[in-house]
Amino acid sequence: MSTHKANTKKLLNKREESLQAGGKERIEIQHSKGKLTARERIELLLDTDSFEEIGAFVKHRSSDFGMEKKQILGDGVITGYGTVNKRLVYVYAQDFTVFGGSLSETHAEKIVKIMEMAMKNGAPIIGLNDSGGARIQEGVVSLGGYADIFYQNTLASGVVPQISAILGPCAGGAVYSPAITDFIFMTDNTSYMFVTGPNVVKTVTNEEVSSESLGGSSVHSSKSGVAHFTAKNELICLENMKLLLSYLPQNCESKAPELETISYDDQHSKNLDNIIPDSSSTPYDIKDIISGLVDSNSFFEVHKNYAPNIVVGFAHLGGKSIGVVANQPNYLAGVLDVESSKKAARFVRFCDCFNIPLLVLEDVPGFLPGTEQEWNAIITNGAKLLYAFSEATVPRITVITRKAYGGAYDVMNSKHIGADLNFAWPSAEIAVMGAKGAAEIIFRKEIKEAEDPEEAWKQKEKEYSEIFANPYRAAERGFIDEVILPSETRRKLIKAFGMLQNKVATLPRKKHGNIPL
Ligand code: HXC
Repeated sequence: MSTHKANTKKLLNKREESLQAGGKERIEIQHSKGKLTARERIELLLDTDSFEEIGAFVKHRSSDFGMEKKQILGDGVITGYGTVNKRLVYVYAQDFTVFGGSLSETHAEKIVKIMEMAMKNGAPIIGLNDSGGARIQEGVVSLGGYADIFYQNTLASGVVPQISAILGPCAGGAVYSPAITDFIFMTDNTSYMFVTGPNVVKTVTNEEVSSESLGGSSVHSSKSGVAHFTAKNELICLENMKLLLSYLPQNCESKAPELETISYDDQHSKNLDNIIPDSSSTPYDIKDIISGLVDSNSFFEVHKNYAPNIVVGFAHLGGKSIGVVANQPNYLAGVLDVESSKKAARFVRFCDCFNIPLLVLEDVPGFLPGTEQEWNAIITNGAKLLYAFSEATVPRITVITRKAYGGAYDVMNSKHIGADLNFAWPSAEIAVMGAKGAAEIIFRKEIKEAEDPEEAWKQKEKEYSEIFANPYRAAERGFIDEVILPSETRRKLIKAFGMLQNKVATLPRKKHGNIPL
């Protein structure tokens, strides 16, 4: 055989070997758990034939515990680049069939390498995580590898979008990299995230708990808020990741792609005039209003099951990508509390990092009172949202659909904290508090001394209502730029965001602010 032929054969053999990963048996076990292999996941995520692998022949350097005899090309993670809907992304996929996808020194180096490339070339990083955590045979070297990744995650934060899917166990160090990224996807029944697993929990706290109820998708998408999205299976999860990418720019210097069909098509917004109930205490679904305002079927909700009293997500409006933050009167009357403030603040900051304009729909009776809220630092957490809006320099528009009471009026993207345009519907009520409570406080003496205190209270409530339970006092001051009909809002918003598209706003020079964490 000629040298050329021998060299070619050697290369092809190595390529074949790297494709075998952990072997047929382990691949079958992976499939039997309802999980795909790392390569199958990459194939489904990326455009056909677009993936280019980097580091396929990397091996670990460990020689303890006989590891020098156990070498698998690629060392448990597949890294490289490709395209999603023709847009460049960098991707790593941990391969559970190789040492349980555990993270060795070299496994970490491969991930860090593509993260650095993603930052230099300005494209999103997607991590498909399926790992038993630190490679136990490597000890501290593996811990160092994790820290190297956390460091890169932090440097990349706000530079390029970072998206994580949890597609298997994710314990110990394996959870902190996803936690620093922008969005976490989980799959039902096959993915778990915890700092310490059920066995350690039992030993330390004597608490018996299953993996699912300790750190399954349902827990993290509803209770802890660690996960932003859940899917029934990996296929749906990967599809949703692609959908998310379609709303995002490639990096902090660019804008999200615009859809070609920029139209005022507003047939679906005709019904908006009929949604707000006659009684201001009757709930309604803010998602009906979002659907009527944004381009048909374009709303992509984030954190759907967590803190449902605030709704956040991406949408297209006249073909342009926007972030929507909306109080949800259907749940706890849309009140702001600890969880909803944190949820919205993080979303606002993401949109601001990546030049995605913000639309705020406001119907909020105020902050939730009570010891539980105060003891859980509603002050600090509410301040997060206030801070996040205040420092956001992207185009920001608010529509007050109904209530804008108290501190929540200020917080929910008011003009005073830098919103560009604030609209109100005729149903808006903008005041320090609801008329009943207000009357009781400021007319206490008159009510008490009246012949019929009950009737006097009603009268005073009416009086306060007439003055403040409308948008006109605020409009007289210029705090509201225009009072508009629900059915004309979509058109106005498309024009307004168009007008604001070249907005330039700068913050005072500083190293970085100190958001109340
Ligand atoms: C080396 C590992 C491994 C690890 C799994 N494997 N985890 N090898 N290091 N961390 C190997 C197994 O030996 C096995 O190899 C193969 O992967 C599959 O594992 P199984 O246990 O057979 O699979 P399964 O029953 O599905 O259980 C998966 C698992 C379990 C729940 C992940 O393997 C597990 O509990 N692993 C340890 C998790 C852990 O404690 N990690 C350290 C976290 S501490 P063979 O050859 O038999 O197929 C940490 C610190 C970082 O990460 C801190 C940074 C801040």
